[in-house]
Amino acid sequence: MRVLSRFGFATLPGPAQLPIRLRLTLWYVALLATILLAFSSFLYLSFSRGLREEQDAGLKTAAAQLQANIDYENGQPRLGDAVSQLSPDIAVALYDPSVRVLLGGVRHWSTSAVAGAWSQAAHGEVAFVTVQSGTDKAWRVLVTPVQENGRTLAVLEIGRPEGELQAALSQLLLLIGIAVPATLALAAGGGLFLAQRALSPIDHITRTAGGIGAEDLSRRLGMAPTRDEVGRLASTFDGMLERLDKAFQRQRRFTADASHELRTPLAIVSSQVDVTLERPRSSAEYRNALRVVGSEAERMRQLVSELLTLARADSGQELLEREPLSLDELASEVVGQLGPLATARGVTLALDRVEGVVVAGDQTRLMQLLFNLTGNALKYTPAGGRVTIAAERRQGRAVLAVADTGIGIDAEHLPHLFERFYRVDKARSRAEGGAGLGLAICDWIARAHGGHIEATSVPGRGSTFTVYLPLAENP
Ligand SMILES: Nc1ncnc2c1ncn2[C@@H]1O[C@H](COP(=O)(O)OP(=O)(O)O)[C@@H](O)[C@H]1O
Ligand SMILES: [Mg+2]
Repeated sequence: MRVLSRFGFATLPGPAQLPIRLRLTLWYVALLATILLAFSSFLYLSFSRGLREEQDAGLKTAAAQLQANIDYENGQPRLGDAVSQLSPDIAVALYDPSVRVLLGGVRHWSTSAVAGAWSQAAHGEVAFVTVQSGTDKAWRVLVTPVQENGRTLAVLEIGRPEGELQAALSQLLLLIGIAVPATLALAAGGGLFLAQRALSPIDHITRTAGGIGAEDLSRRLGMAPTRDEVGRLASTFDGMLERLDKAFQRQRRFTADASHELRTPLAIVSSQVDVTLERPRSSAEYRNALRVVGSEAERMRQLVSELLTLARADSGQELLEREPLSLDELASEVVGQLGPLATARGVTLALDRVEGVVVAGDQTRLMQLLFNLTGNALKYTPAGGRVTIAAERRQGRAVLAVADTGIGIDAEHLPHLFERFYRVDKARSRAEGGAGLGLAICDWIARAHGGHIEATSVPGRGSTFTVYLPLAENP
């Protein structure tokens, strides 16, 4: 798993057509094989060297014992009885180098095999040689001079068969030969099993993701939550499905709401026409019918234009034309235009706290926003109430606030106010000619300007809608 998190799935080296679990296992086994081979070679080499050193040291000790035990008969060196104390597999030969006569012991190897060592011994040096006797038997032989007063009297050869050492080494080799492949096989099996287990949730994710269409976005992977890579992948995936599901549901509801909203005025128009055409009518009655038809047509025109605005905003086609704008001028403009409507409703409409704040904004859109907010305030404020518009600077931001002393909004509705088609009181809103899209459009306008909109309200006392916008760079 370390390799996985280090390199990431896609960058794990190896042929991409191989499944990751195989690549992972191959890497793992190759790595382990390298380590095991290096370790075995080291083990074999140091073991064989140790054995050899031990064997040579044994020969040296034996040679020293024999040297100390050499007898002289008429000046001729002879092997002493220390020979009988040596281990039986050790062979000893005492030679006279000048006349090449065996002075004692037995010899299992040829003279030519030890010739080089002899010439060294003639110079008083000790030498080790490994010699072959017959076809298969090898001997390790120590050749050492027997000297008296600096004169070489004889050469002592002492040898031990290599068989034991070689048997030990081949035993070790056999062990390594069995243990290494067995370990690798076990590691490969275990590695494959682990990789399979670790990656099987990914197969599950792949299969589920493949089976999810636009129609069943409610499906989830529903895997046990874990904090590892796969667990995070699964929960990220589920989170994405959740958002997609919500977006699709919103879209469907929007379409259904829009159709429903259009159906009512259409039904009114067609029944009005049917009823009117039932029999001949007076011109006053016709005028009345046309007025109804006209007002429903106006409602539909308004609705369709709002839908169009939102649809274009969603697809990013609705671009802002930004220019430096004074919010205080916008506010007075709106107060001027909506003054007559306020008067007609018996509501006072006035400016409150206005200072010169400049934003880089789209005049049409910001006017639309103020119209919507002020229109709502007038709609939901009974006669005798007061609606005020403020344009000021607060904590480095431009603020537009529309406050009323109207019916207010219950806290439970506040979080939904800016959703499309959301209305607190459907009947009342409809009677006032609204479809519940006004605040959704305001929200979009505020966000498109890099700002946001908030609503606060005390039921029965009034509401305040506050729009925060970034100040223009160079006012
Ligand atoms: N100033 C306000 N006072 C009380 N309720 C309000 C106010 N502004 C908006 N609302 C509530 O929020 C809802 C959504 O407003 P909006 O999106 O403008 O839709 P509409 O005006 O078409 O009804 C309204 O139906 C109304 O219930
Ligand atoms: Mg409205």
